[in-house]
Amino acid sequence: MAGHVLAVASLKGGCGKSTLAWNLAAGLARREGPERVGLLDADPQGALTHWAAWGAAGAERQGGMVPVHAAGADPDAALVRAMRRHARVVVDCPPSLDMAVTQRLLARAHMVLIPVLPSPLDLWASARTARTVVEMRRDNPGLQAWLLINQVEPGSALSRAMSRALAELEVPALASMVRRRAAFRSAILEGVSVYQLGARGREAAREIDQVLQEVTGT
Ligand SMILES: Nc1ncnc2c1ncn2[C@@H]1O[C@H](COP(=O)(O)OP(=O)(O)O)[C@@H](O)[C@H]1O
Ligand SMILES: [Mg+2]
Repeated sequence: MAGHVLAVASLKGGCGKSTLAWNLAAGLARREGPERVGLLDADPQGALTHWAAWGAAGAERQGGMVPVHAAGADPDAALVRAMRRHARVVVDCPPSLDMAVTQRLLARAHMVLIPVLPSPLDLWASARTARTVVEMRRDNPGLQAWLLINQVEPGSALSRAMSRALAELEVPALASMVRRRAAFRSAILEGVSVYQLGARGREAAREIDQVLQEVTGT
């Protein structure tokens, strides 16, 4: 599917948008071929653009890196350009304050993942994002959306109360969850994805693969 867009969005900062977008793009590139996948960094702070440049500086690390495009002053136009260049585009959407920008990006997206931290306060912040995404379907009726529980404490399961509260939101949660793992932090620090960390990233990479399997159905 040409120019298929997977957005990672939330009105809440710090829930893992950039971390997940970075590794999901890497996972898609492994499945589909590196040139077929691009990552659009639509956060004005440009964290992923920075770390990608950092990674590319270590020549031995370049194999398998996904091209990262900075969105610049016109994220919508940048997304259209990225869609022409790549069969798949993963978008790291801007944080809360850039709501209008996020809405324009979601108007072109096919799928959106909303990262949610497994804590009650974060859950309710995500309720607003979920509602906004549902409203977006007026303009973009085909938009598929899921919550993705991120930074689950190792060895812990979601409490029954959390699961019940999640089920109340207007967007379903993926069965796949992502745990809090040092590999997600070290990968970005090294300018690579969890796939390039070898044994250190194996469990993290498996989680990202599961998410991709669940959303793409393959
Ligand atoms: N699954 C995870 N395991 C460990 N650390 C994580 C995970 N997801 C995100 N983080 C860390 O949490 C912080 C916020 O994540 P980030 O991707 O920057 O969120 P956002 O882009 O939504 O603001 C960062 O320090 C990041 O390294
Ligand atoms: Mg971010």
